Amino acid sequence: MEPLIELKNLCYKYEGQSKEDWAVNNINLEINSGEFIAIVGHNGSGKSTLAKLLNGLLLPTKGEVRVGGKSTANEDELWQIRQQLGMVFQNPDNQLVANIVEEDVAFGPENLGVPSSEIKKRVKEALELVRMDNFTRHAPHKLSGGQKQRVAIAGVIAMRPDCLVLDEPTAMLDPVGRSEVIETVEKLNREEGLTTIYITHFMDEIINADRILVFEAGEVALSGTPAEIFSQVDKIKELALEVPQITELAYELKKSGIDIAEDIFSIDRLVEEICSLK
Ligand SMILES: Nc1ncnc2c1ncn2[C@@H]1O[C@H](COP(=O)(O)OP(=O)(O)OP(=O)(O)O)[C@@H](O)[C@H]1O
Ligand SMILES: [Mg+2]
Repeated sequence: MEPLIELKNLCYKYEGQSKEDWAVNNINLEINSGEFIAIVGHNGSGKSTLAKLLNGLLLPTKGEVRVGGKSTANEDELWQIRQQLGMVFQNPDNQLVANIVEEDVAFGPENLGVPSSEIKKRVKEALELVRMDNFTRHAPHKLSGGQKQRVAIAGVIAMRPDCLVLDEPTAMLDPVGRSEVIETVEKLNREEGLTTIYITHFMDEIINADRILVFEAGEVALSGTPAEIFSQVDKIKELALEVPQITELAYELKKSGIDIAEDIFSIDRLVEEICSLK
């Protein structure tokens, strides 16, 4: 099966960036339908630029972005690509447009010209999926950050995209809101098979990803499963990033002479390891 998303020698330079300064520098990548891809990397490493290249908000300076076989550089196909890739950004307040939750979720499908009986059905489904179906008639601005972000996600999934691209959706949320959002996104991926590209600064959020890409200066510096990535604690620190707290703890225990595995990123696994120590 051909990959849902293909990046070929993808490069992007903003106006004013110097000759050797690329925001995104020669990325080659294939993302399959149903995958959960996490993207991390310190400030300015090119994550948001990549997100915007994916749905054609930005067009490649060099190379190509293909979604479902269609290229973002082809104006006739861009409209379809925008429908296939739903975007969720950092600030939920910038994404909510209506005065009532259900109207907000209906906004996207309305713009796509979906018939109103079908919209009703989609809005109901979408709000159930993000567990906001008890807030149908509420005012979005009175919700918590996590609730607002889940409404924003519902608005995107009501358009029935093939892929969800989330650029730091939890950056402005408190810990409760953060876990509500990551649990919702994981559920949509696992149960609805929605391909997910999840950009974050929080390593604890991505321990269940299929693949993690670590960005550095517009390039993919590391890629692999969470186990493969988080076992390289020193390398991650070199890239000015953190590992999940529990991995850090296991790493420190190991450094202090306790014989423990390195690829630990869940509490259960650490407990198991400690209990099996002789
Ligand atoms: N509109 C712009 N004009 C010029 N340069 C830009 C613009 N937006 C981003 N850049 C530059 O492009 C590079 C990549 O930026 P980008 O926003 O993609 O990084 P990021 O990984 O998303 O960072 P953050 O973690 O802070 O969100 C940086 O060097 C940044 O300064
Ligand atoms: Mg960014």
